[in-house]
Amino acid sequence: MPFVDSVSVPFPTQRPRRLRRTEALRRLVAETALRTDDLVAPLFVREGIDEPQPVPSLPGVVQHTVASLRTEVGRLRDLGVPAVILFGVPARKDAEGSEAWNADGIVQVALRGLRDEMGEDVVLMADLCVDEYTDHGHCGILAAGGSVDNDATLAIYQRAAVAQATAGAHVCAPSGMMDGQVASIRSALDGAGHPDVAILAYAAKYASALYGPFRDAVDVTIRSGDRKGYQQDWRNSREALVEVLADVAEGADMVMVKPAVTYLDVIARTRAAVNVPLGAYHVSGEYAMIAAAAERGWIDGPAVALEQLTAVKRAGADFILTYFAAELAEALGG
Ligand code: PBG
Repeated sequence: MPFVDSVSVPFPTQRPRRLRRTEALRRLVAETALRTDDLVAPLFVREGIDEPQPVPSLPGVVQHTVASLRTEVGRLRDLGVPAVILFGVPARKDAEGSEAWNADGIVQVALRGLRDEMGEDVVLMADLCVDEYTDHGHCGILAAGGSVDNDATLAIYQRAAVAQATAGAHVCAPSGMMDGQVASIRSALDGAGHPDVAILAYAAKYASALYGPFRDAVDVTIRSGDRKGYQQDWRNSREALVEVLADVAEGADMVMVKPAVTYLDVIARTRAAVNVPLGAYHVSGEYAMIAAAAERGWIDGPAVALEQLTAVKRAGADFILTYFAAELAEALGG
């Protein structure tokens, strides 16, 4: 029985399998390609250590010393990775997270060294939040009842932004999900003579269980409560657009959706709603799940990583923050 009769389609018709027959045909018609230029490497730098410290829940990821961080950023540059994002682990934490804006705080020291050495060769992004710096582990200043005081927190984000820009950051990336954080940071940067420093807003950031390994990497324990009062509820996607549009209106140069693979619908909706560059953060838990299953031989880790990150790009992300950055850059070439 001929094919056309069995499915009652008009003849002639496309048969997609024709174009899947050879690798060259598949390459020719591929819609999406992940490139080294799409990658941002998240890196941790810790104060007061002499040797890099492995992060057990993120195999292959370390807390860097200032020296080992420089070596790693040099390696990433040589591999063609265009950008890194820095997270600091301070030796001293307090109620306000004041090391986040200390000119000699660990991230500021690291930024100065990297900017001196690499100039404009690598985009230096600084995560802008205080949870790594506060003794209670929340992303802002606590009000009397234990909730985070939005507006008091904006003032310290402004100080942190100016400290990061002064130290050499090209991009400040506020991740604390305070309302109005983008506008506050923009005005602080402009007022301090840093109109050229860009803002990448963690615009749609969900209260996700996938951040667990990250909290090991930055030594954060949330003393009481959780982040559900300020990060988004993962049952919702419409409110992501409210957040994203507000951040763009406040002056965000780029926006981000986080986590990535569980939120492909949000990435696609955001891509359709705004015209600024869109990033997605393939977060620590997403990396750890692949690494753990691969360690057991249950999946092919590099193949799953490439499939997931390509899917994130297919959904509409322009660039991806990923702990696989170096590994993928090695595989993809510069
Ligand atoms: C907050 C911040 C977090 C991550 C990036 N920035 C943690 C959180 O909100 O609890 C998580 C990143 C990851 O899981 O890889 N400073």
